[in-house]
Amino acid sequence: MIRPHNFLLFIACVGDQLSLASQLVNRTIDDTYGDSSTGLMVQYTPSSNSLGGPYWVNNEQCNTTAGSCAITPSTNFAFDHTWTQTTYFPNVHNISVGFSFSGIAIYVYLIVTNAPLNSSLVSNVFCDFRLDGEIVGHFSHLTDNSSNPQFNVSAFNKIDLNPGNHEMLIETTGDQNSFIIFDYALYT
Ligand SMILES: *[C@@H]1O[C@H](CO)[C@@H](O)[C@H](O)[C@H]1NC(C)=O
Ligand SMILES: *[C@@H]1O[C@H](CO)[C@@H](O)[C@H](O)[C@H]1NC(C)=O
Ligand SMILES: *[C@@H]1O[C@H](CO)[C@@H](O)[C@H](O)[C@H]1NC(C)=O
Ligand SMILES: *[C@@H]1O[C@H](CO)[C@@H](O)[C@H](O)[C@H]1NC(C)=O
Ligand SMILES: *[C@@H]1O[C@H](CO)[C@@H](O)[C@H](O)[C@H]1NC(C)=O
Ligand SMILES: *[C@@H]1O[C@H](CO)[C@@H](O)[C@H](O)[C@H]1NC(C)=O
Repeated sequence: MIRPHNFLLFIACVGDQLSLASQLVNRTIDDTYGDSSTGLMVQYTPSSNSLGGPYWVNNEQCNTTAGSCAITPSTNFAFDHTWTQTTYFPNVHNISVGFSFSGIAIYVYLIVTNAPLNSSLVSNVFCDFRLDGEIVGHFSHLTDNSSNPQFNVSAFNKIDLNPGNHEMLIETTGDQNSFIIFDYALYT
């Protein structure tokens, strides 16, 4: 026999599931503040450079002596007014930006900077996207020498994922210098 208060609980649970199924929403994962709904933070590797400072730096760390950044795009046009950057050199072998999310679609946004090649600043971007352990995409951008940063650059997206937990890595390996600025991701 179903007692009245159990029955009400049952109705409430079914109601939750119905509303979950009918309401697809996009949630955000910010480079600095992490997932706005779960609070999970973004993981960056390696964690420190050869001087013991952070290997990846956000816009505020760029303004301190701990990190020195040659290229600092305005935060005015960045999601949540933050970004996190590093420069990859081949001797480091493997760098990554990682986060997990539970959902069925993922969209990743980077900032690219276009410093002139003759400035000797690394401004080209090369990265791979590893989802649940498999490489599923690549992104590259060669500087146009204009010095104009581009925001909200859609570097990767994938829909029709199996519902549930997923691990996303934005990874750079190999023998080309690469400048990565992670701004945010959306997932559904
Ligand atoms: C989530 O954002 C992407 C990219 O802007 C968009 O294409 C998609 O329709 C959005 N999904 C939902 C459920 O709002
Ligand atoms: C660094 O600090 C200066 C002075 O506070 C500020 O104007 C600038 O926007 C900051 N740069 C970044 C990238 O946050
Ligand atoms: C990029 O998208 C974010 C979030 O939608 C928005 O706040 C920002 O103004 C956009 N920036 C540019 C330069 O379009
Ligand atoms: C790079 O490191 C990540 C873990 O941080 C690992 O999952 C991935 O397999 C590595 N990639 C290569 C090409 O070794
Ligand atoms: C570097 O390249 C930029 C854009 O292509 C050009 O405007 C500038 O004059 C060049 N500087 C030098 C020192 O060659
Ligand atoms: C950028 O400048 C370099 C020379 O400094 C040149 O080789 C390259 O073609 C330029 N790129 C574009 C997109 O004009």
